[in-house]
Amino acid sequence: MSPFHKTRRGQIVLGDSLEYLAGLKAECVDLVITSPPFGLVRKKDYGNVESHEYVDWFKPFGHEFKRVLKSSGSLVIDIGGAWIPGQPTRSLYHFELAIMLCREVGFYLAQEFFWWNPSKLPSPAEWVTVRRIRVKDAVNVVWWFSPTPWPRASNKRVLVPYSDAMKGLLKNGYRAKLRPSGHDISEKFSRDNGAAIPPNLIAIPNTESNSYYLRYCEKHELKPHPARFPAALPEFFVRMLTDEGDVVIDPFGGSCVTGEVCERLRRKWTCIEMCEDYLKGALGRFERPPEPQQECLFDPNGEGTAYRLYHPAARWSVHEDPLDEDGGKERTINARRRT
Ligand SMILES: C[S@@+](CC[C@H](N)C(=O)[O-])C[C@H]1O[C@@H](n2cnc3c(N)ncnc32)[C@H](O)[C@@H]1O
Repeated sequence: MSPFHKTRRGQIVLGDSLEYLAGLKAECVDLVITSPPFGLVRKKDYGNVESHEYVDWFKPFGHEFKRVLKSSGSLVIDIGGAWIPGQPTRSLYHFELAIMLCREVGFYLAQEFFWWNPSKLPSPAEWVTVRRIRVKDAVNVVWWFSPTPWPRASNKRVLVPYSDAMKGLLKNGYRAKLRPSGHDISEKFSRDNGAAIPPNLIAIPNTESNSYYLRYCEKHELKPHPARFPAALPEFFVRMLTDEGDVVIDPFGGSCVTGEVCERLRRKWTCIEMCEDYLKGALGRFERPPEPQQECLFDPNGEGTAYRLYHPAARWSVHEDPLDEDGGKERTINARRRT
């Protein structure tokens, strides 16, 4: 397949990624990172597979990912959950995907991450805002798989600032003791390492509204890709799991966010996308030279760099109306209660 576009470090390929991957030699890729079409009920423009067919659809991709990855490499998949049509229960498809990739294809689950989008609107409205029987679905699973139990990785690449509580401990000292859980909180915890190890919950709002990419699409009358992930998501894994010059592939490239990130971080990259219209917009990402790499995009102590996750007890409802015996099946009973 000839490239649709080439840059200094990477290329965009127009076509079916399964076909593209089949043409690669074995063990030549360091990281496959992607957000595939989700198994959604409400279809996106680019056509999703329904959740009950999803695992079968994905399996050949899984085998190709395993074949082309080096034994030290990683596969990272950002995938959202889905609701069962017409009822307030969830599909299991993304868990079935993980089980298939491990049990049938032979990947290891290195770690599961959760991408929390703090700006996600409450949906599906019927269950969340009308009947009030479910909470906001604002988290995607990000599966990190590896062909062996020992993929190359370093959490030192993705550190975060210390919390105020930790800064207090570092300043005022800490009494080493055994926690009730049995964990030995030794003196080592009071050593200032300059930054903290992040958890596997990654908070990134998906609120892009005035980026160069969007302005480029507008200028050229192109429809922006409807399901883009924020650049900080692939950036986290590209930094943690690869070195400069390593090879990264995004087989469901969309608007080539992964390519833009890799160009900036000096990784070699290929994004494969089968819809040409999305690639016309993606060209805008490579029109200018990449931004220089920065250690930190924001003032780490500044406003808006941290999201507050409330303790659940921050505001329990004091008015406990009895729960509906029918679990909210009858819409009218619940819809009357607005608080
Ligand atoms: C969720 S989107 C990816 C969005 C991308 N991460 C971004 O931020 O722009 C999934 C994309 O996979 C593409 N796609 C689906 N099947 C494909 C295939 N077999 N080969 C290449 N692209 C495919 C779809 O056209 C869609 O654009």
